[in-house]
Amino acid sequence: MEAPDTLRYTRIPLAHGSGAIPAVGFGTLIPDQLATKQAVAAALQVGFRHFDCAERYRNEDAVGDAMQAAFSAGRIRREDVFVTTKLWNTNHRPERVKAAFDNSRRRLRVDYIDCYLIHTPFAFRPGDEQDPRDEHGQVIYDSGVALIDTWRGLERLVDDGQCRSIGLSDITLEKLREIVAAARIKPSVVQVESHPYLPEWELLEFCREHGIVLLAFAALGHGLDPKLLNDPVITAIAQRVRRTPAQVALAWAVQRGTAFLTTSTKPHYIQENFEISTLPDDAMWEIRECITTNVRFNAVVGTGVPGFIPRAS
Ligand SMILES: NC(=O)c1ccc[n+]([C@@H]2O[C@H](COP(=O)([O-])OP(=O)(O)OC[C@H]3O[C@@H](n4cnc5c(N)ncnc54)[C@H](OP(=O)(O)O)[C@@H]3O)[C@@H](O)[C@H]2O)c1
Repeated sequence: MEAPDTLRYTRIPLAHGSGAIPAVGFGTLIPDQLATKQAVAAALQVGFRHFDCAERYRNEDAVGDAMQAAFSAGRIRREDVFVTTKLWNTNHRPERVKAAFDNSRRRLRVDYIDCYLIHTPFAFRPGDEQDPRDEHGQVIYDSGVALIDTWRGLERLVDDGQCRSIGLSDITLEKLREIVAAARIKPSVVQVESHPYLPEWELLEFCREHGIVLLAFAALGHGLDPKLLNDPVITAIAQRVRRTPAQVALAWAVQRGTAFLTTSTKPHYIQENFEISTLPDDAMWEIRECITTNVRFNAVVGTGVPGFIPRAS
């Protein structure tokens, strides 16, 4: 009898944290609270055990409610779920880090966070306004804090014991090198946009060398044009292996050694995105060698301003 395909249960050990991160992750960038709660409940139900959150998404309460419902029903244990959340740009000043972290923890209704990320390397004017702008509509940045000082704040959270691992998001290789060189506690996870149209091989290689997990967001290309899921290389493989184009893109992400995030509010997509299985080597080769389109969909890496407005569904 053929052994069952276990790709969807892949866990990647964290070199500088505790435990391992499930490679198959569910993103919670969903604008509506009720839709968030329902999507997280559906994702837990089909088997997702890794959730990506952020104070910036303004829905940590809804994620927390859905997780708590599953925990108290005894269906799933807290320790079986990997919860990531992120420090927003307006909280980069070291003295603001702990309060931001504790607020996320309270909203998510968890005692500890598995991974805490600096959402972007750009500091905005500190305060409660998440998107501070001047009279010309320009973002007000904060030049009074360096990324390494914010990182020191995250290191202290690990020392305190309620944060299991730390990392960065929307970071360039150049800035990542600086933090890795200066850090006392090295980043465990780096979350960046990545998919077959933006494979980030050089960054992935650096992450491999330093024991950092590359966590790919927009693993399906944000659903934007040019549509990755209509790419002829992807659709031909999907037909050949009898999986959907989304399952091909997601399996590729895991098999090349990354973790991924995908999001949907539709139960059939949520299930489909969990039920991935291993691609043959020739399919992995074709995706790497035959796809020539190169697109970055999200401009956040250049400005710290989320370039992606969630679509209305
Ligand atoms: N660090 C950052 O700056 C950053 C930025 C962006 C995102 N993220 C994280 O990454 C997560 C994922 O991002 P994303 O939502 O853009 O990723 P994505 O999964 O690449 O794109 C989601 C889009 O793909 C569609 N989709 C989902 N499953 C599908 C399937 N099986 N077949 C066809 N279409 C499908 C969705 O459609 P429907 O809407 O119709 O379901 C939606 O339009 C976010 O939730 C967030 O946690 C982080």
